Amino acid sequence: MNEDNIVVVKDLEKKYKSGTHAVKGINFDVKKGEIFGMLGPNGAGKTTTLQMMGTLLNITSGEIKIIGYDVASDSNQVRENIGFALQEAGLDSLSTVRELIAFHVKLFGFRGSEIEERVEQSLSLLDLHQYSDQMIPELSGGTQRRLDLAVSLVHDPKLLILDEPTTGLDPAHRVDLWSLLKKLKNDKGITIVMSTHYMEEAEALCDRLAIIDSGEIVAMDTPQKLKKTIGKDRIEFKLSESLSEEQIIALKNKFGNDNLSTKESFFTVRVDDGEEALLDTLKIIIQMEIKVKGTKVLRPSLDDVYLKYTGKRLEDVP
Ligand SMILES: Nc1ncnc2c1ncn2[C@@H]1O[C@H](COP(=O)(O)OP(=O)(O)OP(=O)(O)O)[C@@H](O)[C@H]1O
Ligand SMILES: [Mg+2]
Repeated sequence: MNEDNIVVVKDLEKKYKSGTHAVKGINFDVKKGEIFGMLGPNGAGKTTTLQMMGTLLNITSGEIKIIGYDVASDSNQVRENIGFALQEAGLDSLSTVRELIAFHVKLFGFRGSEIEERVEQSLSLLDLHQYSDQMIPELSGGTQRRLDLAVSLVHDPKLLILDEPTTGLDPAHRVDLWSLLKKLKNDKGITIVMSTHYMEEAEALCDRLAIIDSGEIVAMDTPQKLKKTIGKDRIEFKLSESLSEEQIIALKNKFGNDNLSTKESFFTVRVDDGEEALLDTLKIIIQMEIKVKGTKVLRPSLDDVYLKYTGKRLEDVP
């Protein structure tokens, strides 16, 4: 095993008793200190994969090693080294923030003065001091997610597994949680494997991404490299007057048929670097006496990547 790999997944499969083949032989590695994201439509197999990594679900075939420990045969060692926050947060409603954290510290076998020390550390790390004596149902959704993280981190795990950590949060709380996860990575060297439905989140947070569809990894790379597979930038020109036949022919001659796409109220030109090419392209278009009322540079987005590999738009995902 490569020493840097915290997670090694080989030919992993999951068939549920119902017959559903949820994961169909996937392979990936996660390096120490990486944030590795899984992006995929509903039912792609993300939760199933994360649960197998977290020893919560049996593997049908293949293997998962976490810090060298086999998830199937060394499940206790795996559990000592991972923290897990589930898709549906299920927090106890009858205790305060401090009590819940202390309960989990004790579950991990800490005793005596160590309990209080760990609780304090956890409250500080997750910025929860001001809520320590509040009852859990009184907390906002964002604070509950932070508490979820606090609970999954009490034993200093090396790997954190997060299933859709920000689903249901408003944008401000979502951004807060992103900085918190970055802090855990940068200050504590924690490795994170997470699923998400949000392209922005994948882009802001993940060092590498696996796009999963119907139980298979259809693409895996850094967000930047994935976007490069889509191709060039485009410049969009909004028209105040539709193009004439002659203008379309002139545009095709100038930019090449493959680089041009024309519609009633706008047309686009494909270029290597949109921002750099914008002015020169605009000059040529004005010389052709085309009436333009606005321009926009369109860069390939992760949404385009997602569409290319899954045939679906991320925005369609609830
Ligand atoms: N306990 C189960 N028993 C039988 N089938 C299941 C079970 N859990 C999930 N499945 C099925 O396995 C497939 C993968 O589901 P999974 O929950 O892993 O997808 P997901 O990528 O996490 O989706 P979502 O984005 O909706 O959370 C789906 O077809 C789902 O219906
Ligand atoms: Mg899921």
